[in-house]
This record gives sequence, structure tokens and C-alpha cells, in this order.
Amino acid sequence: MKFICLIALSIILLSSCYYDKAQLIYPAAGTCDTTSANYSTKVAPIISANCAVCHGGTATAGAGIKLDNYTGLKIYVGNGQLLNSINQTGVVPAMPLSAGKLTDCEISQITAWINAGALNN
Ligand code: HEC
Repeated sequence: MKFICLIALSIILLSSCYYDKAQLIYPAAGTCDTTSANYSTKVAPIISANCAVCHGGTATAGAGIKLDNYTGLKIYVGNGQLLNSINQTGVVPAMPLSAGKLTDCEISQITAWINAGALNN
């Protein structure tokens, strides 16, 4: 069981590392791929890297709001608060709280996923 947890944790950590590096290597606008903005490959890693510290697992800093699973995240897709928070429109508190805004590409990918029906894909 511990071994499986370790593997799962490694996958999560490695995927977020990979994502960060991609941001450094391809920072220029116009390289943002929104055509395959799936939950598992794009959205979940963004949430994991930027939001899960407060909104994931047993974290308490996120006011009890859990965004590190599809069902939890879908609630905030449906009520519009996810997009309002990351676009920092002022309608709801700007997210990520006390950190830099997500990149335009990350916001575009999350938006593309929502526009495609916010599927658990
Ligand atoms: C440092 C901790 C922290 C981080 C990181 C963080 N949040 Fe939050 N988030 C909060 C807190 C605290 C609240 C409750 C704020 C309130 O209602 O005043 C909240 C509320 C929210 C809400 C509900 C809006 C509402 O009505 O208050 C959404 C949606 C949300 N966060 C999304 C995100 C997303 C998406 C990310 C990552 C991009 C993120 N958060 C990162 C702490 C955090």
C-alpha cells in the first residue's frame, strides 16, 4: 500500500515538474496548445501545481473547498466561480490566493476544457 502511494505521489510530483519546465522552455505566446485540454492531462496538473496546497487532500487553508478531484472541481465550474477566481474578475476572491496569477496559457486551457463540456476525460 505504501509503495502504491509512493508511485502515485511520484507521478503527481513528476507531472507537475514536467509542466513547470515546459513553461520555462516555451514561454512565448502562441505556443499554447488548447486543442487537447483534457481534465487528466491539462486541468488536473494545473490545479495540482497551483491550488492543491490549499484545496487538496487534507489541506485546511482553502476554506474546505476541494478542487483536487473531478467532482469537487465541477461544482466550481458549474457556478462560474472557477473561471471568475482564476481570471481575477473581482466577483469572487482572486485565485491562487497570495500567489501570482496563472499564466494566460493555463487559463486558456482550463477555459477550453470548460467550453468543451468540462468532461472527466
Ligand atoms: C494559499 C491558499 C490558496 C490557494 C493556493 C488557492 N486558494 Fe482558492 N481559496 C482559498 C481560500 C482561503 C478561499 C476562501 C476565500 C473566501 O471565500 O474568502 C478560496 C476560495 C476559492 C474558490 C471559491 C470562491 C469563493 O467563493 O470564495 C475557488 C473557486 C477557488 N478558491 C479556486 C482556486 C483555484 C482554481 C486555485 C489555484 C489556481 C486556488 N483557489 C488556490 C485559498 C487558496
